[in-house]
Amino acid sequence: INDVQLALISDRMLQDMSIGLQKSTKSNVRMEMLPSYVDSLPDGSERGAYIGLDLGGTNLRVLLLTLTDSIDGGAKFDATIKSESYKVPNEKLEGTSAELFDFIAANMVDFAIKNGLEEKMLPVGFTFSFPFDQDRIDHAILKQWTKAYNIKDGVGEDVVQMLRDAIARQGSLKFEVVAVCNDTVGTLVSGVSEDQNCQIGLIVGTGTNAAYLEKVSNIESVNGYKDDRFMCVDMEWEYFADTGALNHFVTEFDKQVDATSPMPGEFIFEKMISGMYLGEIVRLILCQLASVGNIFNEKCLGDLGTTGGFDSRYVSDITEEAIAGHGETNVVKSILASVGVKASQGDVHTVQLVCEFVSIRAAHLCAAGISAVARKIKANHPEKNDLVVTAGVDGSVYAGHPTFDTLLEDKTDELCRNHGVKVQFIRAKDGSGKGAALIAAGYLKTARQLVGAC
Ligand code: GLC
Repeated sequence: INDVQLALISDRMLQDMSIGLQKSTKSNVRMEMLPSYVDSLPDGSERGAYIGLDLGGTNLRVLLLTLTDSIDGGAKFDATIKSESYKVPNEKLEGTSAELFDFIAANMVDFAIKNGLEEKMLPVGFTFSFPFDQDRIDHAILKQWTKAYNIKDGVGEDVVQMLRDAIARQGSLKFEVVAVCNDTVGTLVSGVSEDQNCQIGLIVGTGTNAAYLEKVSNIESVNGYKDDRFMCVDMEWEYFADTGALNHFVTEFDKQVDATSPMPGEFIFEKMISGMYLGEIVRLILCQLASVGNIFNEKCLGDLGTTGGFDSRYVSDITEEAIAGHGETNVVKSILASVGVKASQGDVHTVQLVCEFVSIRAAHLCAAGISAVARKIKANHPEKNDLVVTAGVDGSVYAGHPTFDTLLEDKTDELCRNHGVKVQFIRAKDGSGKGAALIAAGYLKTARQLVGAC
């Protein structure tokens, strides 16, 4: 996708963002532009111990965030994190919501026991990486299960209540859920604790999505604010292309990925970018090349011939070896052997190129999205020339793929160049869980101040 086309995609995203923020026009776009009710950000004065809970596409993370006085005597807290990661078993992706929430609560108990927290009354910030409607910070009505979650119930229900009920069923925990956020919002908030200029949260992992700071007066569904402060908006940009914005660029391989996915016709943007799909796109291209006799001199393609037979992790590993540039191809050969294909040196080169092109397209589409977000932020600050904003980023593709970050940064620079704004990217490691805990900390701090003022 060339630069002119990427600029047009960025324009379209920018347009859809504004349309999605207005109640009367919202139904014309698929991006959700959801207000998060996170309207104040950590300023370093937060103290105490908080639990962050992060349910993502493949893992559940539970963490204890402790905020103490800084040892250098500064006003900003020192933060320490203890965390555990639990793989979400496949059967929980397809069971009932109560089974999923019982799994979450059981692992919270496990975490509490391992860290001696059984008797502690701790506030919980919950990162729930799905789209949901909010009217306050501890209330989240699930709109849709996404990624690989194929749970039949739960839509239309409050996920905070489901979590509270599951904690109560465990019977032993004294934790109290005080805040919920999407992973992009958590990542943004966590980014702020590293860099006060952070105004964007981006996830490129199993799924992809972004959040940013929007003026409350621009979010039509939010009322009751006397001052024009900023609130994190969860864009849910995985839906961006579902109204046809990328039809011109969708290939036969994308169509096949879509057709065999759990939710055909939806998440077209995400399906071109995120970790749940990159390996499958590469696999389909390789199968096509093999079927016309261009690569792999074999009839049987082993696992490579079946849906899901090529992990997105391989795309990262193969690219890593390709850019190391020593001419060695052991990784590619052993990956191909593990999926049942014997490759010649020529095949290896082709496989590397396919991985490279699929990765470039993903990173550049993401850059088109982020440049639109940066331009929207710039439009809210017309007084600032040459605005620099920071994006906190997390997710397995961003963190694990060797060139994705540079491709994203360079193309975002180019796309923003004539718009008076520049984006700096920082890795917000464990960002979403830490961010949720910080949101809980900020919320309780404000609540205490209000009580104090009374
Ligand atoms: C999916 C979810 C979205 C989440 C993203 C990244 O697109 O629908 O809410 O933020 O994945 O995890």
